[in-house]
Amino acid sequence: MLTLGIETSCDDTAVSLVEDGMRIRSGARSSQEKLHAKYGGIVPEVACRVHYETLLPLIDHAVKEAGCKIHDVDAIAVTNQPGLVGSLYIGLSTAKALAWALTKPIVAVDHIEAHIYAAHMADPELDYPHVSVVVSGGHTDIFYTEGPLEHSLITRTLDDAAGECFDKVAALLGLGYPGGPAVQMTSLGGNADAIDFPRGDAGPDGLQLSFSGLKTAVLNDMRKRGFVIEAQRNSGRLLTTPDAPVPKSETRTLSVRMPLADIAASFQEAAVDILVRATLSSTRRAHCKSVVLAGGVAANKRLREKMAAACKAQKNTRFSAAPIALCTDNAEMVAGLGFHKVVTGQYANLDLDVLPNKQEKRLRVESAAD
Ligand code: KG4
Ligand code: ZN
Repeated sequence: MLTLGIETSCDDTAVSLVEDGMRIRSGARSSQEKLHAKYGGIVPEVACRVHYETLLPLIDHAVKEAGCKIHDVDAIAVTNQPGLVGSLYIGLSTAKALAWALTKPIVAVDHIEAHIYAAHMADPELDYPHVSVVVSGGHTDIFYTEGPLEHSLITRTLDDAAGECFDKVAALLGLGYPGGPAVQMTSLGGNADAIDFPRGDAGPDGLQLSFSGLKTAVLNDMRKRGFVIEAQRNSGRLLTTPDAPVPKSETRTLSVRMPLADIAASFQEAAVDILVRATLSSTRRAHCKSVVLAGGVAANKRLREKMAAACKAQKNTRFSAAPIALCTDNAEMVAGLGFHKVVTGQYANLDLDVLPNKQEKRLRVESAAD
């Protein structure tokens, strides 16, 4: 069965054709990164317009790359939640028009569930249940996963998403957008123990996740070290000029300035530790012996390394991560998961709508007192 996947939930336009939920026949992606970089973050209006211009040519491209015709497609899978409302509508309305014109079924795919499925596509041995850690620009959620379409939320960040934190810290360090890859690159050769950034309170059951304290700690630390941080009035963005002249009153702090590599590495280490701690607590609470890491931040090398080592050390918990190429937003994961919706008969109607925010089913875990 050939599924066409369409993904436009944020700032990447992506189309893919996948056979039987596993075999990738084609994958086309158009990134808007450079466009949004000058604003220091995603501008929803811009994202939506660019999806509108890009999507149809990309579908054409993906179909050709798969060596087939659009009529060969058996079903259309489209991300309808969660995401930016305008961006989601571009993908959904295009998918509906195609489904109607081709008289093919349409299935609605949850972006977060699709991120988790990306790990499955590269690891056919992956078994259920497992604890799924989804770390992206918009989400930091940990689920108990019993099947490709069965997820119960264990815990999620109380404030910023991990990727958002990487992006904001990268902006503070003057590294540009998207911040995750830039922080990783800058941290190479840096000393991860140079600054002991706070890992926050994990709460009584170890499941509390928060990144805003870490972000503020980096900001305060940089101020202390004499970095000049200016708030840009019109955009609300923070700009850092590490080489700007230090005011006389702050000359004392000059001697404690340190390379950006050390700050980036120390921040990255703290962010990774927060994620690893919550993951291990989740596996214990859910009595689960398998962990899956997915989402844009899962591309982070240090996170993959530390998560793998921590899982191994915790009773040889099985660890699996989405392949780097399928960590950030893509349509392979949408087409792949769409197949499971088709085979279980979970078709959508043409009145399908977008759900920018979604409510999760929660897993009841034993509290620390239990
Ligand atoms: O999953 P994704 O493509 O989009 C969302 O669904 O949000 O994730 C994008 C996020 C961005 O915040 C980006 O900075 C982060 O993933 N990211 C990384 C790395 N590559 C991408 N964060 C840390 N290290 C990386 N190597
Ligand atoms: Zn995503």
